[in-house]
Amino acid sequence: MAASQTDTPAARAIEIFAELVTSGDANPYPLYAQLHELGDAATAEPGPVIAFSHAAVSEVLRDPAYRVVDAARLDETWPGWREHPSCLAYSLLLSNSPEHERMRALVAGTFTPSRVGQLLANLTLLLFAGFETTTHLLGNGLRLILTTPEVERSLRAGIMPAQAFVAELLRYDPPVHLGTDRWRPEAGDLCGVPIPAGSRVMALLGAANRDPRTFAEPDRFDPARPDGASLLSFGAGPHYCLGAALARLEATVAFPLLLDGFPWLASGGEPVRRSGVGLRGYDTLPVTVS
Ligand code: HEM
Repeated sequence: MAASQTDTPAARAIEIFAELVTSGDANPYPLYAQLHELGDAATAEPGPVIAFSHAAVSEVLRDPAYRVVDAARLDETWPGWREHPSCLAYSLLLSNSPEHERMRALVAGTFTPSRVGQLLANLTLLLFAGFETTTHLLGNGLRLILTTPEVERSLRAGIMPAQAFVAELLRYDPPVHLGTDRWRPEAGDLCGVPIPAGSRVMALLGAANRDPRTFAEPDRFDPARPDGASLLSFGAGPHYCLGAALARLEATVAFPLLLDGFPWLASGGEPVRRSGVGLRGYDTLPVTVS
């Protein structure tokens, strides 16, 4: 479906996506809810395909028909990319099978000198993938605690286990809202939406986590919900986050320590959100601890 047909659900989805990118960083969730009314995914040739339902995002992440933008693809689309040393094209996140499996086994096992180039790219990846993400998870959780007294009370009283709080926080207000770009070499179909060959595909992880067809009452923060296994905050499929267990552990340790260390914790002013929809968190989050 083309974007010029402004009355079609696909064209409306593309408009909502444009709004998300320009002004969705304050609160993307109402826009996600509007997207969910339009189906699973939308395509605006020659623009990207946007996946927003849980089913569509899950399929993009897991199905090998969708590939991340690796060095070979960059050679086609951005011939000068090798002049940018910070580019992560040799990293796990931007490689496809079979190189991806080899690197994943390498990172999980032993580092050998012949892999120094890949190692440097992966160390750079670890720095941003492992640091900013967890920082924003802690910030988003702290903001929820500061603005929701019953959550703070239940956590302090031990009625709400920190592990369950973190699991639901990861669904309700995750730090990563956009998966790494995918593209689909062959034409195909995503939850009934036709995908032209060579399409760029964007997976809205934050939207998938609020899909009412997967999570009952998705806008309610409910650490007791039984559907947590469907969480897509750490991705899915071959690129599933390598640090997921570490990130969960860090947050599960940090929140109780914070609450134990500071019995009187309150908001110290309006927080300032970081800009951009890909990563969701705060630049500043004032707190008083008197
Ligand atoms: C709350 C914290 C975190 C969140 C929400 C998060 C989220 C994600 C997501 C969504 C992906 C997959 C991206 C995609 O498929 O497009 C990913 C991949 C990755 N993450 Fe995390 N992450 C977190 C913490 C960490 C930490 C602590 C580390 C390491 C210390 C880490 C290392 C990685 C690596 C290496 C990959 C690439 C895996 C691959 O391509 O095979 N992440 N992460």
